Amino acid sequence: MKIKMPVIMVNVKAYSESMGDKDIALARACEEVKEELGVSIAYAPQMVDLALVVREVNIPVLAQHAEAFLPGSKTGYTVLEAVNEAGASGTLINHSEHRLELADIDFLVSEARKLDLYTVVCTNNIPVSMAAAELSPNCIAIEPPDLIGSGIPVSKAEPEIVKMSVEAVKDINKDIAVLCGAGISTGKDVKAALELGAEGVLLASGVVKAENPKEVLLDLANGT
Ligand code: G3P
Repeated sequence: MKIKMPVIMVNVKAYSESMGDKDIALARACEEVKEELGVSIAYAPQMVDLALVVREVNIPVLAQHAEAFLPGSKTGYTVLEAVNEAGASGTLINHSEHRLELADIDFLVSEARKLDLYTVVCTNNIPVSMAAAELSPNCIAIEPPDLIGSGIPVSKAEPEIVKMSVEAVKDINKDIAVLCGAGISTGKDVKAALELGAEGVLLASGVVKAENPKEVLLDLANGT
């Protein structure tokens, strides 16, 4: 399934508010908002729910992480081929909370390309965004780690890092979509991100921990 820009990408992490049936309910809320407002929303469920969520909703579903291994004798890991078999559209790579070495990111981006899986490489600053851009993923999501889960939107607290990351990535490869994330929770934050040149947002707590996630998603969608 293609991911259209501008996109609202929801990563539900390992929160207790996003497990099992709650994961499906959040994914359905994303699907409803996509259908009601015609916005692009992608969803990264908890890894254990990946195949289940793919079957339940008609929006792009991403893995939160994949290991830089080929399938084989490895216990307790998720490889890209399994992500593909689960029917996911792609995967996050190198999230701040699940860092990888550069060679592993390179492996994952190249292998994902062979499988036609969409790659979102998360980065923490401009030099790392530039290094990631050299690997030609489909998308780079810049997220200053200090602002993750803070409720302080990166688009307001560190507009320069967003603007400069977009410019630096596009200078290397204009086909890479650039998102920003950390502390995003309102339509106003999304609008500010898009005004800085980002093509969407990657967010978690603002939706997952909301009393009414659908209401938050509707507000976010209005910012696109
Ligand atoms: O992957 C999304 C992310 O790390 C941002 O988290 O909770 O600040 O939206 P949050």
